[in-house]
Amino acid sequence: MRTLTGSDKTMSATTNAMRPPAEPIPDLRDPEFYLDGIPHGIFTRLRRENPVFWNPEPDDPKHDGFWGLTKYDDVVAVSKNPKLFSSDSDWGGHRIFDEDQRRLGGDGDGASDIKSMISMDPPEHSKYRATVLPGLMSKRVLAMEDGIRRRARAILDEFEVALEEETTPDFVARVAVELPIQMLAELFQVPDERRQDLFRWSNAIVAEDDPDMRASDEYMAQCWAELTQYGLELYQERAAKPGDDLISMMVHARIDGEPMSLERYLAAFGLLIVAGNETTRNSISGGLLALSEHPEQRRLLLERPERIAGAATEIVRWVTPVIHMRRTATADTEIRGRTIRRGEKVVLWYCSANRDEDAFERPFEFDVLRKPKPMQLGFGIGQHFCLGARLAELQLRVVVEELLPRFPDLQPSTEVRRLRSNFIAGIKEMRVRRS
Ligand code: HEM
Repeated sequence: MRTLTGSDKTMSATTNAMRPPAEPIPDLRDPEFYLDGIPHGIFTRLRRENPVFWNPEPDDPKHDGFWGLTKYDDVVAVSKNPKLFSSDSDWGGHRIFDEDQRRLGGDGDGASDIKSMISMDPPEHSKYRATVLPGLMSKRVLAMEDGIRRRARAILDEFEVALEEETTPDFVARVAVELPIQMLAELFQVPDERRQDLFRWSNAIVAEDDPDMRASDEYMAQCWAELTQYGLELYQERAAKPGDDLISMMVHARIDGEPMSLERYLAAFGLLIVAGNETTRNSISGGLLALSEHPEQRRLLLERPERIAGAATEIVRWVTPVIHMRRTATADTEIRGRTIRRGEKVVLWYCSANRDEDAFERPFEFDVLRKPKPMQLGFGIGQHFCLGARLAELQLRVVVEELLPRFPDLQPSTEVRRLRSNFIAGIKEMRVRRS
């Protein structure tokens, strides 16, 4: 694990209104840090001692570091000001690294029109967001509940067989992976058999630091080529025969009167594949883990299943499946006395904001009866608020409703294996047994 000292800007900045931290800040990009879960001890110390911290990046060709925001109010304020804090890939995009450094195709050669709504600012962003919005709106999502329940029951039927045959099956592979990926296949109206491909491509795109998911740049390029080919096949198919699925919505959308370019369509297809399954998968497995570590909360939900909807929101706060997003300052500005210069990166640490003692009462308690305000930030806030939030919460609610009464005593049988990533709080494997 790398620890950075010396050139730490927070210690030398003339505008520094805060005490320097008692101990050096570790490099929070380091994916090794997240192998045992979110390093909450470090984030708690940062919120207290250095809430707007400077994380040097001596190895980055373009930036000498980034600002990290750890407080709830700061994450909200920045997320709600896209003019001053851009998500646009022309400024670098939504990941800590600039998107032209590790672009989707994996060749890092810079210029590309592979840009999706998550890496756009208004007014362009709103036009692209509008293309798929009808497919993910609350009313439409609620109508999917029966289908989600049928799928959840079938998945749990198979899981029950595995539990008898294998004793300690992997809950992630058997349950948490299955429901979101099947729902994604339904949203795209593609055959269920293609779901393994969607799963593989999504892992390779998002988990660049985990060799189990992205074995090499060549493998990533191969996944992107496969995704492109399949995306284009679907494009042709839906151009000729439209349905009411997300692909048809994009193919037939008009942006300022023109069809979406193929590059933009493929970028949106890739975004939906990743966004629609990684996050929900990890909230399902993280949710089971949280409930088994807090048996009194699990009992409470067994007695009062009507509280499971609220519990789904608390699970997303507790797990915070997306650890951070990034913005770039478009002009000089200040946050808590720190001067942020135009072009500097600002990272929104949702995992920290969701444990902020100034925003939440007892933030380190997993409380399925927690009040909905303040709103947890696991889905972001503002312009880019998660388009799939309603669908994700619904899947989470239904799976917990179906799981708890059937398997009230399910427990991890060994330590979970986590994703090596500073971006997605993921569980790769969780073997479980009845206690
Ligand atoms: C528990 C599950 C989920 C979590 C924690 C989550 C988290 C997030 C977060 C934090 C953002 C904000 C990005 C930003 O501010 O820069 C986001 C955006 C987005 N999410 Fe989700 N997400 C989840 C599920 C889903 C699902 C199921 C879908 C689609 C089927 C989806 C589609 C999207 C899209 C398209 C965006 C980009 C919105 C925009 O840029 O306007 N997400 N998500």
